[in-house]
Amino acid sequence: MVYESESVWEFEMAKNVTFGVGAAAELGGVVREFDADSVLVVTDPGVSEAGVVDEATESLAPDDYTVFDEVEPEPSVEVFDRALEEAAAVDPDFIVGLGGGSSMDVAKTTSVVHEHGGDILDYVAPPTGGGRDVPGPGVPTACLPTTAGTGSETSPVSVISLPEEDLKVGISSRHQRPDVALVDPGLTVSLPPGPTASSGMDALSHAIEAYVTRRYDAKPAPQDRTDRPDYNGRSVLTDQLARTAIEHIGDGLRDAVNNGEDVEARRNMSLGSLMAGAAFTNAGLGATHAIAMAAGAVHHTPHGVTIALTLPEVIRFNATSAFDRYAEIAELLGEDTSGLSDDEAAEAAAVAVEKLAADVGIEGGLSSLGIGPDDVDHLAERSNALQRLLVGNPRRVTREDLEGIIERSL
Ligand SMILES: [Fe+2]
Repeated sequence: MVYESESVWEFEMAKNVTFGVGAAAELGGVVREFDADSVLVVTDPGVSEAGVVDEATESLAPDDYTVFDEVEPEPSVEVFDRALEEAAAVDPDFIVGLGGGSSMDVAKTTSVVHEHGGDILDYVAPPTGGGRDVPGPGVPTACLPTTAGTGSETSPVSVISLPEEDLKVGISSRHQRPDVALVDPGLTVSLPPGPTASSGMDALSHAIEAYVTRRYDAKPAPQDRTDRPDYNGRSVLTDQLARTAIEHIGDGLRDAVNNGEDVEARRNMSLGSLMAGAAFTNAGLGATHAIAMAAGAVHHTPHGVTIALTLPEVIRFNATSAFDRYAEIAELLGEDTSGLSDDEAAEAAAVAVEKLAADVGIEGGLSSLGIGPDDVDHLAERSNALQRLLVGNPRRVTREDLEGIIERSL
């Protein structure tokens, strides 16, 4: 058969994006639009204690909502089960995810599993789960991010930890994309410097990996549109989003960490994170995320910090396959690449990322997270198993290549 390459790209995000300081106050209006009078708010204790739940629910009638605030970082399947039990008790006609990626992920999955029934693991891909497709939309959902961030407010994915098996699995379905993303930079003002730094570096990596990932037409055409992968490659649209995201994050992250109340910096970060999320959830990711997901599962390392410490060596490894793109990234991060050779310009991107991470307090290599030389082999093996991420990496990457990247990142 003659090879036929893909000639089409698709793009999806939340049905409605409402952005700006004050957007959270429109939650009541959104809930009225959906004619809902029983709302389940899914959040975590930190957000609740910081007063952010009160702030975000001010526009809701007190009798109309119930708060479930038991979400933990890197939530386990038990957390998802408890949220589902709460939904069974409340029978909500609207669900709100308020917090970082964890709370938003739990909200999105509760929305579809409450609507369609079954267990959480039924919807996870085999061999861990039952591989059941989400058959249709869930309970209408709005997500309000309090970090900048994971991009979960527009994404179709939720990540579930199985700590006893040292595994992280996911549910991916277009029906998990929230109906409304209410992105209010004001909700991120109380986020402490550490999480501001790590979530911001995660957002930067989403934009960078989406910008260099393989192009949509560098794969075979699908038999049917339903066979097109969720990560369908970079396109002119994801490129624009990624470029603007890199610029905004480069402009905003140091100031947002240094002074949380710098609203202009927070606005840059929220916008950058939103755009990076919209870019990568359509285009795809690469080796940085494969290594960080594996390290998160095996060593329980925090996602954003692991990402920040791995990204520079992935850039150096990938440079030969995307010199021009990395040179542009260096420029977007404020480096002057005029007069530099291709590899010097790509190196400038790696150095710019390292400098940014160090300036916001993230340095010391993966060894600072407790990963040592003896762990490299197993971590490379586990990273190599994440082919759905590696398939988008601009340079073909083998298990031995992953070992090298991890070793140089220690
Ligand atoms: Fe990430």
